[in-house]
Amino acid sequence: METVVSGIRSTGKLHLGNYYGAIQNFVKMQHEYNCYFFIADLHSLTTHPTPADLHGNVKQVLVEYLAAGINPETATIYIQSDVPEVAELYLYLNMNAYLGELERSTSFKDKVRTQPDNVNAGLLTYPVLMAADIIIHKATKVPVGKDQEQHLEMARTFGNRFNRLYNRDVFPEPYAFNFSEKLVKIPGLDGKGKMGKSEGEGNAVYLSDPPEAIRKKVMRAVTDSGPTVENQKKPEEIQNLFDIIKVVSSPDTYTHFDHLYNTCQIRYGDLKKQLAEDIIIATAPIRERINDIANDTPYLRQVARHGAIKARESASKTMREVREIIGFKSF
Ligand code: TRP
Repeated sequence: METVVSGIRSTGKLHLGNYYGAIQNFVKMQHEYNCYFFIADLHSLTTHPTPADLHGNVKQVLVEYLAAGINPETATIYIQSDVPEVAELYLYLNMNAYLGELERSTSFKDKVRTQPDNVNAGLLTYPVLMAADIIIHKATKVPVGKDQEQHLEMARTFGNRFNRLYNRDVFPEPYAFNFSEKLVKIPGLDGKGKMGKSEGEGNAVYLSDPPEAIRKKVMRAVTDSGPTVENQKKPEEIQNLFDIIKVVSSPDTYTHFDHLYNTCQIRYGDLKKQLAEDIIIATAPIRERINDIANDTPYLRQVARHGAIKARESASKTMREVREIIGFKSF
């Protein structure tokens, strides 16, 4: 059976982009593959969270994984820092990751631009840690959003390079995966790029947002003054709203508003009202479970322990092989 690995950085609440880009696929894939889903708390250290924030964020993501329907008996759910073998493989892979290629990663270049006062080595080698996460379980499929494609290409490069260096076939190639025909990108509500926590208030709809907050955010989404010519191309902020409708609403709803747009009869207020209600319906089952699970500390502790044991079993098996190949042997 093919192995699947994916993770989400623990920087707090999960939003619709996390859900449709990744988690919805996790939930479907768990029944068909050998799945490892983790909370990337080591990756979140690049922004220097306080211990309390770090812990709270890890808990939040764990709760939301479970609320979204990942079953810890079916898939392995674990916290990245509970598997120290990942950090060890990261160290070995770093020896064959080159400054030039790391500097060329678009996510790194973005960070250099947006947080020039904290361009640390952890940010530079973020894709190496991500590669270690994936190949330590010898995964071939990685459910992620479109923005992660370059990171996956780098994971293939680092795995292949290790194989070639030691002339062994240890790591298979991992590829991005989505059940829908294309990789999903959920845009934000601010009319610009993707939905994300770092993009500012109001840009992201969180799975834990109450219906009122969802309505408010959607009603405030950026729009233009409306089409003036039939069948004109939608500007980015309008296309973004249609992109979200495409994933949360019924195909009929999409066609309906697309027709109104193309005939210059659209009223954005109506579109937003419908979109808000469809988001509320789509996220209701998750929202309802978040609080119950968050209050069940013994359950969370048990899930984390069980996941750590299963993930370490797989990771340490690979690492025994890797150490031997590198030449770390006992006398
Ligand atoms: N980089 C991913 C993101 O920002 C998170 C991540 C870290 C990840 N390690 C991973 C995703 C391994 C898939 C597999 O969303």
